[in-house]
Amino acid sequence: MQIGTLTLQNNLLLAPMAGYTDLPFRLLVKRCGAGMVFTEMVSAHGLVYSNGKTGAYLATTKEEFPLSAQIFGVDECIIAEAARCIQERGIAAIDLNMGCPVRKVVKKGAGAALMNALPLAQKIIKAVRKAVTVPVTVKIRSGWDSRSINCGTVAAMAQDCGADAIIIHPRTARQLFAGAADWAIIREIKHAVTIPVIGNGDVKNRADALRMQIETGCDGVMIGRGALGQPWIFQQGYSGIHPGLATHEHLPAALFSHIDLIERVYGGSVGPQRFIPHLFHYLKGIPRVKALRRYLGSDVKTLDDLRRTLIEFFQGSFPERPAVEGTGIGFCAAMQAAADPRE
Ligand SMILES: Cc1cc2nc3c(=O)[nH]c(=O)nc-3n(C[C@H](O)[C@H](O)[C@H](O)COP(=O)(O)O)c2cc1C
Repeated sequence: MQIGTLTLQNNLLLAPMAGYTDLPFRLLVKRCGAGMVFTEMVSAHGLVYSNGKTGAYLATTKEEFPLSAQIFGVDECIIAEAARCIQERGIAAIDLNMGCPVRKVVKKGAGAALMNALPLAQKIIKAVRKAVTVPVTVKIRSGWDSRSINCGTVAAMAQDCGADAIIIHPRTARQLFAGAADWAIIREIKHAVTIPVIGNGDVKNRADALRMQIETGCDGVMIGRGALGQPWIFQQGYSGIHPGLATHEHLPAALFSHIDLIERVYGGSVGPQRFIPHLFHYLKGIPRVKALRRYLGSDVKTLDDLRRTLIEFFQGSFPERPAVEGTGIGFCAAMQAAADPRE
């Protein structure tokens, strides 16, 4: 698949997901075979004006090439400057977030609010196009609400402003994650533009990915929640029709590689907390997991503790015992918190 000057090895892309798509997870997914990976959304204002903290979201290595950095904001000059900073870091592409429905983002006029402010959206895409030579993509929703479905108009406008591809998550901003993604809208976008269209929404396995391509004619498929707890969804030859069966085969290798990557990226002293949101997803539907959760809630303080516990669990020598109240790192509560999807 081609996005502007960039040739991807395949057309399966990892979606930007705040709190999840950090460097270790992107590296894991890339190793599994993803054609392209995305950072979570990064504030353009934060990148240009503030501290290293925002910049830390852009940490990358050559191994995950091609990486796209997603930015959000509302001022075209600041967004263009942020895009320049990203290009200078050697990042392969820039994605403009015009689909985020989260209140603190849209109340400032950014994210999905831009679908209701087309003149500003137009200025932003043109300014970024002018500022950088790397490919620029735009990620949109169907529209603001069911009475204002305007993604066809937005996609055509983005193409006219020089965007290299459109990523469409066919739910309205108001819908958040409710209901099913309306794949018919992906097909409509495909008819509205000539640049590549990347479909996104509710792809849980490889069969869904294939079905999305066949039903909509989209050029690429972006996978978000379907990659959480099963990064091997990107693996060649993995049919994924019965994820439950595949789980046992792939799970331990993915878990341990992921922990190793967290250690490599964040250093040996990093605690297991970075892994908590992912662990919750890896463990979904696994037998005997309740006992494991109790154990994690009381005794696991380092990545080595975590490895040891998981080895015992997978070897079947895992001791079932009651939780110790008030100790440990709060895995259980944190795992519950991680269950709430954000955007
Ligand atoms: C936890 C979480 C965080 C997300 N963060 C972002 C984000 O930073 N930027 C963005 O454009 N979309 C974000 N999304 C939306 C996804 O990129 C994707 O559009 C959506 O989840 C639908 O695809 P899926 O059904 O494959 O998950 C997020 C979704 C989730 C579940």
